[in-house]
Amino acid sequence: MNQDRVESLAQFHPFTRLNKLLEGVLPGGGNTPLLLSLGEPQFQPPAFAIEAIANAKDAWSKYPPTAGTEAFRVAAKAWLGRRYHLEDKLIDADRMILPVSGTREALFHVALSAVSRGLPNGKGRVLMGNPFYHTYAGAAVVAGGEPAFLPAGPETGFLPDPDAVPAELLREAALVYLCSPANPQGAVADREFWRRWLALARSHDFVIAADECYAEIYSDAAPVGALEAAQESGSCDNLLVFHSLSKRSSAPGMRSGFVAGDARHVARIAQLINYGGVAVPLPVLAASTALWSDEAHVAVNRARYQASFDLADKHLGPIFGAVRPAGGFFLWLDVGDGEAAASALWREAAIKVLPGGYMGRPDASGNNPGAAFIRVALVYEPALLDGALARMAGVLGPIIQARRAAGRTAAAGRR
Ligand SMILES: Cc1ncc(COP(=O)(O)O)c(C=O)c1O
Repeated sequence: MNQDRVESLAQFHPFTRLNKLLEGVLPGGGNTPLLLSLGEPQFQPPAFAIEAIANAKDAWSKYPPTAGTEAFRVAAKAWLGRRYHLEDKLIDADRMILPVSGTREALFHVALSAVSRGLPNGKGRVLMGNPFYHTYAGAAVVAGGEPAFLPAGPETGFLPDPDAVPAELLREAALVYLCSPANPQGAVADREFWRRWLALARSHDFVIAADECYAEIYSDAAPVGALEAAQESGSCDNLLVFHSLSKRSSAPGMRSGFVAGDARHVARIAQLINYGGVAVPLPVLAASTALWSDEAHVAVNRARYQASFDLADKHLGPIFGAVRPAGGFFLWLDVGDGEAAASALWREAAIKVLPGGYMGRPDASGNNPGAAFIRVALVYEPALLDGALARMAGVLGPIIQARRAAGRTAAAGRR
């Protein structure tokens, strides 16, 4: 990799930037530090998953096949069918489902597989909303492609608008990452969004990587999935969906997810794993099979996140208005200056959050659409979050008040 690419990777990595921002700043207020910066659920996966790993202990002596086990593929297909109301014929479990060691890794591999710049008729643009999950941009750069950032702020409902993509980008698009529920914004795509993106992908022959790893964490109705739009068209061409047990089952350490969709692209990702990826170990596949087959623990998880959002509304609602996202477990708060607020929260309340600008890139006019925000991951027990959210309100309340007062003064000055 050349030096430019190495440097642009450093630009995209939000946690490297956060460590730098808080270097030398002591966590204050006499509080135990709490990390709400990382989307890592702090709950235990259900006991039956751990038992399934123990029961499959003989399989640690075997190399796992990249395609996983039939039992896993059948369970993943059955879950997709239940969750998204799919007809049996849409997905051939053997050719169209692939277990992966975490969706982050698979989201990285899909760029290596899709970007074909340098080949005859090759395409190298990798589209994504702005702000975005950092792996998308890092993968695009490593694959030799070029990330292209589409507005995904309040003006587009916090998701990239398929009708506003410049023609030149569409011509050169190899891949688009679409995330719903969106990290960091918490927006949820509707069926029409997926229909329109699918139509674009097919007419311009690029791949959609639909990152739906927060699909099971939502406030009201279960978010519609990209596969539901694919079913209407009768095929999964140009579409891959990514699902994970990290959020659904609070098992980020298991490194277990799957990719489903267009068989040509599933085969290409499998080939990359064969050479330089990590196939999911057989005991982990056994536990994953059990987890995808169970809904009870997921409902408990979802209820816990809703209890946390109730607390967020109680403490932060008086400052920001309703803060509950449609999906996912992040608060996305407009604080005016995300870096300043993140520093203040660490210095005064020992709470670490992520400045939203670290998940965004400046647009053509130099404006980073995440810069005014902080992202707060509500990944602890509600009882612990209650006090933390109260402390956050204590720090953010005066910041927001001062901002409003400054706004009023500026408006009065213009009159
Ligand atoms: C939007 C998004 N996609 C993918 C991932 C990766 O999840 P995992 O690799 O644990 O499946 C994350 C993790 O935080 C995420 O926020």
